Amino acid sequence: MKVTVNRKAHFNAAHRLYNADWSDARNATVFGKCANPHYHGHNYELIVGVKGEIHPETGFVMDMKVLKKLIEVEIEQAFDHKNLNEEVEEFKKLNPTAENIAVVIYHKLKPKLDVNLILTITLYETPRNFVVYGDE
Ligand code: NI
Repeated sequence: MKVTVNRKAHFNAAHRLYNADWSDARNATVFGKCANPHYHGHNYELIVGVKGEIHPETGFVMDMKVLKKLIEVEIEQAFDHKNLNEEVEEFKKLNPTAENIAVVIYHKLKPKLDVNLILTITLYETPRNFVVYGDE
């Protein structure tokens, strides 16, 4: 019997969506306002889901204090109030779309979790736009 525990987190960050191989016009067409060369911000809402067996001694799938701290250290401290393109190493050459940010978050957290746990990242870039990436 597997159960998913979820932890919500939040960060504000600036980005610009841009393909350096394209003209400014094509970037503007494809990425719209997100291609603004002066950057713009989003209030990202993150849900980290961890699925696994309930430990018989604790009744926990994972200690939420540990998950909270992990998200603080690995994600919030790395991304909050940052310009993702300029200040976060992973996005120096990777377009910081919600899709790519979710994949980066997954790869930052996955190695820190017990190998038996199933990880799912849900990332809201706006209240209506969100992406999901994970083990299943
Ligand atoms: Ni944007």
